[in-house]
Amino acid sequence: MPDFTVGYFVGSLARKSINRKLAKALVRLAPTELAMREIPFGDLPLYSYDYDSDYPQVAKDFKAAITAVDAVLFVTPEYNRSIPGALKNAIDWASRPYGQNSFTRKPSAIIGTSPGAIGTAVGQQHLKSILSFCNSPMMNAVEAYIQFKPGLISDEGEVSVEATEEFLRTYMQEFRDFIRRVLTVYPRSS
Ligand code: FNR
Repeated sequence: MPDFTVGYFVGSLARKSINRKLAKALVRLAPTELAMREIPFGDLPLYSYDYDSDYPQVAKDFKAAITAVDAVLFVTPEYNRSIPGALKNAIDWASRPYGQNSFTRKPSAIIGTSPGAIGTAVGQQHLKSILSFCNSPMMNAVEAYIQFKPGLISDEGEVSVEATEEFLRTYMQEFRDFIRRVLTVYPRSS
């Protein structure tokens, strides 16, 4: 029986997304205390505060999916040295209406992969700034900037490099410990 449920966001909408492969690997390597479930956001319309008085069902369901999990994990590419627009749009939906921010006190972690040598570091920095404003306690360490080389992770999430696999396993163990610490301070019922 897992102790915590983690909702994960795959920042890319691309069919062959390397970050989706990474997410699959993280699901495989997560410790047994974590139940992993994806929170999809690709069907959300573009956010406007005109919706605040009457959120569409798809956005209500999206916010409910975040409420239902103990923590959130962002597995995201870097687009133009920031995060993909679709992910930012989803975060905007989750953060509103004013006073009903779904990320408040929700523990989070960020990881991403890119073919580039700095492996999403700049995009992650932007996401940290956003989540900080959204009042989400973030795991600061371990940081994870994964440079993707062809064949590193299969479509099924199998990792071909042992050191990378071990690193990803440790990352998820650290996230479990972080969630436990945060939820000791901020109990789930509050
Ligand atoms: C990229 N890419 C990219 N890579 C990077 O390391 N830093 C960047 O700023 C960008 N910018 C960027 C913008 C746009 C619009 C695209 C489509 C791509 C390359 C990117 O890392 C590569 O396409 C990855 O495959 C994206 O991850 P997913 O979507 O496959 O998970």
